Parts: sequence; structure tokens; C-alpha cells
Amino acid sequence: MRKVYFDHSATTPVDPAVAEEMIKYITEHFGNPSSIHSWGREARKAVEKARQQVATAIGASSIGEIAFTSSGTEAANMAIRGVAYANRQKGNHIITSAAEHSAVLACCKQLEREGFTVTVLPLDQYGLVTAQQVAEAITDKTILISIMHANNEIGTIMPIKEIGEVARENKVIFHTDAVQSVGKIPVNVDELGVNLLTLSGHKIYGPKGIGAMYIRKGTFWQPITFGGGQERRRRPGTENVAGIVALGKAIEMATERMYNDAQRLSGYRDRLIKEVLEKIPNTILTGHPQNRLPNHVSFCFRFIEGESMLLMLDMKGIAISSGSACTSGSLEPSHVLTAIGLSKEVAHGSLRLTMGKYNTEEDIEYFLEVLPPVIERLRAMSPLSEGCNPCACSTCTVHDDHHHDHGDEEEQY
Ligand SMILES: Cc1ncc(COP(=O)(O)O)c(C=O)c1O
Repeated sequence: MRKVYFDHSATTPVDPAVAEEMIKYITEHFGNPSSIHSWGREARKAVEKARQQVATAIGASSIGEIAFTSSGTEAANMAIRGVAYANRQKGNHIITSAAEHSAVLACCKQLEREGFTVTVLPLDQYGLVTAQQVAEAITDKTILISIMHANNEIGTIMPIKEIGEVARENKVIFHTDAVQSVGKIPVNVDELGVNLLTLSGHKIYGPKGIGAMYIRKGTFWQPITFGGGQERRRRPGTENVAGIVALGKAIEMATERMYNDAQRLSGYRDRLIKEVLEKIPNTILTGHPQNRLPNHVSFCFRFIEGESMLLMLDMKGIAISSGSACTSGSLEPSHVLTAIGLSKEVAHGSLRLTMGKYNTEEDIEYFLEVLPPVIERLRAMSPLSEGCNPCACSTCTVHDDHHHDHGDEEEQY
């Protein structure tokens, strides 16, 4: 059976060239970068080379602006909490969006418990927040804006540059979670106008358990963990040298390939969107139709239970996800899908397909062949489908046999 991996927003395989680099730093060059002898110096050199690779990939002006972390999640926590605690005397207000990954949202929730006030900006139907919304939310107590670059569930790319201008005009520190955008679309910290940016290794053909935080020189921030002097005391703990080397190599490779991959994958993306919408009735494209990640396709199929669809596709050798990897398994529908105005019933029928560099045209064809009968079969079995049509609009919970007239319901999506 054909095996097709379409879940690159969840994680990616480690590129063999990355693995090859990495392994040298587990076996041969195993030194502690803090040691003064040659083993240590070798490891230090590798860490600093990787720091340069990360800095170059995101347009940072100095390697001193990059700190390695254990994940994208840790990097986001470091960025957000570090700014919050350091600026507490100035104010206690943080602005974020309903689109954020739990790495940001749960962190903000915790800060709320600690006395900070958090404004979570609502999304439009495509998952966007505007710079104007951000500007209107700023008060004289605002110390931080944290808005993601690209969304993991629906692929929408946020207007970070415009938000960056608002942040700068109002002298508010600005963080963006770029875990999903790095290596897929251009990411340049000066063009985006961010003070902090966070990223992760395993979404760009590096290993899991490695991430980085960019912090612009002069940003008022304090560490959130304490220990030795590693990472300029920003993130103490003996460095994950192999992971760091891998992240450096992976980000360099991803940046080199970015343009060609984006061209090819966005062609597949547009074909998938067009054909799925044509072939399968009662389908809603989620996220922005154009302004989305080149490798990202997401839909909601009415009268479908996402987990069953995922399992049936899995039996056909296709890996996709429904909601985000972190929330699947829970009965609550994705917070992003409900935030763009979808009802819980509709949100439960979500599919996310995220392509990667090894996917081919044949993978797309196989998926387009397999999906329609899977949906048809599930709908035929679904109690929601025939005879008991639930109204699937975002405001109505009525189940009955009759169609409701909601006027512009279709346009809502
Ligand atoms: C947008 C976004 N932010 C943060 C993370 C967390 O990254 P990590 O898995 O490295 O903790 C993810 C991972 O899914 C993500 O998609």
C-alpha cells in the first residue's frame, strides 16, 4: 500500500544530512561547550556556528540575539514570561490572539493567574487579526504583543509587518511565534519589526526537542530559569549540542530550498483546494484562500467526525490530522476553528493536510482518489447526515429535518 505522510505541521522527518551532522556531536565530538580543552572547544565552535546559521536564516544582526531552547514551546514561554516579569513595573497588559498555539495561550493564561491582564483578540472568518485591532487594544499598561506568524491549524499568515509597525509606534515589545513559518515563507526579523521571535527544529527537518528564541538587542527581558552561565544566562543548562548543530543545519537547508519548495507545494495546495471543493459537497475551506502557508490545506466536512476520517485515511496509508496534534484525542473541537466562527459540529469534521519536501504529484493524486469515497462512506454511516440534519451554522444548535434559512450562512465561511 502507498504510504503518504501529509502531517508536516505536526512534525517532519530528520533530513539524512542533518542526522549525519548531528550524530558526530553525540559520538565523536561529545565535549561540553563550557570545557576549555579541545573537546569542549570543538563543541563550542559547533554551537556558535549553528547560532550563526539561525541568525542568518532570520536576518538577525548578531549571533548574540539567538538563544537555544529545548523546544518552540519553551522558547515562547521564555519570550513571553521573560518580557512580562521584566516589565511588570511598567504595566501588566498583554495582547495576543485567539489563533495562538497553546504554547502562547496557556502561557498567557498562567500570567493571568499571576495578576497580568490578557486581551485575546478575536479572529475574522479567515483567522486573521488586523493591525488596527492591535492598535485599538493597546493601553498605557500594555507591555507585550504576541501574535503568531502563521497558524498551524488553518495555515493563515498574519499581517506581522503591519502589527510590527503598530508595536513600534506605541513602543510595545512584540513577539511572534514563527514555528510554522520559518523555512516555508520569508522570515526576517527587521522586515517583520519584531523584538522576539521563536522557532522549533522538528518542523523543518530537524530533531524534536530543540528550539530557539531571537531577542533583539536592547529588548527589556529577564530569564525565567536560573543556573549556569550558558546561553548568556538566558537559558542555563548544558547545551544540547547535537540538537543545536542539527537546528543550524536544518534551518540553513530549509532556507536554501524555501523558494523552490514553496513554488511546487503551493501548486499542489491550490489543486487540492480546487478539486476537493469541487468533488465533495458540503465542504468548507478553513483559513485564508490565498494568504496561507504554501504547504497547508485545511477543510471542514459537514456531517463528518474528524477522528473517524483520520482513522479511515490512516488505513489507506495516508497521515493527516484533524484539529491540532496536541488537541486530537480530546472531545473539544479546536479553539481556532471555533474562533473563526464554525459551530462545534462543523469544527469536528476538520481535516488538515500539510505537505513537505518529499511529497510528490502522485501523493496528491492518491489522496484525491481516496478521500471522496471515504467521506461518502462516513456520511452514509453518520446519524448526522441523512434525515437528521443538524443546522451547522455557528449560532444554532437545533437539530431537525428541515433546512433553516440563515440568509448569508454560506458567506459566513
Ligand atoms: C505554532 C506553533 N507554536 C509552537 C509550537 C510548539 O513547538 P514545539 O513542538 O517545538 O514545542 C508548535 C508545534 O506544534 C506550533 O505549531
